[in-house]
Amino acid sequence: MSFTIASRIRLNDGHLMPIFGLGLYQAASSSKTTQIIIDAIRLGYPLIDTAELYRNETQVGEAIKNNNINREQIFITTKLFRTNDGRQGLHKSFNNSLQQLNTNYIDLYLIHAPQGGHVLEVYKEMIQLQKEGKIRSIGVSNFGVQHLKWLKQAGFIPAVNQIELHPWWQNEDIVDYCRINNIAIMGYSPLGKGHFLNDSYLIKLSQKYNKTSAQILIRWSIQNGFITIPKTTSGIERLQENMNVFDFILSDEDMKDLTNYGKKNSQNTGWDPTKNGKEKFGPIS
Ligand SMILES: NC(=O)c1ccc[n+]([C@@H]2O[C@H](COP(=O)([O-])OP(=O)(O)OC[C@H]3O[C@@H](n4cnc5c(N)ncnc54)[C@H](OP(=O)(O)O)[C@@H]3O)[C@@H](O)[C@H]2O)c1
Repeated sequence: MSFTIASRIRLNDGHLMPIFGLGLYQAASSSKTTQIIIDAIRLGYPLIDTAELYRNETQVGEAIKNNNINREQIFITTKLFRTNDGRQGLHKSFNNSLQQLNTNYIDLYLIHAPQGGHVLEVYKEMIQLQKEGKIRSIGVSNFGVQHLKWLKQAGFIPAVNQIELHPWWQNEDIVDYCRINNIAIMGYSPLGKGHFLNDSYLIKLSQKYNKTSAQILIRWSIQNGFITIPKTTSGIERLQENMNVFDFILSDEDMKDLTNYGKKNSQNTGWDPTKNGKEKFGPIS
């Protein structure tokens, strides 16, 4: 599989999306974060994943504005955190995001989780924003199979579902459903938030390939066809390390073994709203 950092996939709405980018969860609202984003873009990171919740959309906006970066060069994902306030809440949050990101469109706008109700009302309004050219692609995050089925019943198939994905948390039912329905799969916490990097099996693999544990995990995501967004704010070296994953291939056997190994020790690293019920999703018609 010959991917490069510039590789893109075609989403079900026709837009192209990079397969690799920088995640910004828990990246501070500070000039250090702005600098990391500038460094990432200069190194060639084609995608930035932020969110209303992360409070660092301003830093993304600053990085693009102050450094003569062509907006079209960067694919920006951001997320609406609360659907609780329906259409009105969406407009308020969306306009705030546009302002902070210093842009007039979002490449991929996600509903952060199926937990606030009014999901269909909000989704419908996002389609309106898409028609106005303010959102290129519409996606969801932390949606389980049932949530995706409820969306489909209402006639909506998102372009992307962003869910936790690494060998220790494989969400196979959701991945299978997305593949069958042509929904691109964006994996978050590809490094398991750093929790598994000293795992002895992973270290053995990293020695075999002369790569780091982080690089093995990012490669596992890419070879599974997941769009991946490892986060780092600690400096340019890790930015470089995490993007230096396009010059090797994990063998089919090692992919299979790592997949099976993770499955046996299954563990997620954050929240898991994928199983929230209908009461959290909101009325379905
Ligand atoms: N939609 C959602 O609900 C949701 C939930 C979680 C995450 N996300 C998105 O997915 C992105 C990635 O997930 P994540 O931030 O949870 O975790 P992650 O990317 O799996 O791991 C990040 C952790 O690994 C460390 N790290 C990064 N590169 C490293 C390397 N080469 N060697 C050793 N340690 C390294 C980072 O520390 P340093 O920063 O100090 O380098 C940080 O502690 C987020 O930033 C966010 O954009 C979305």
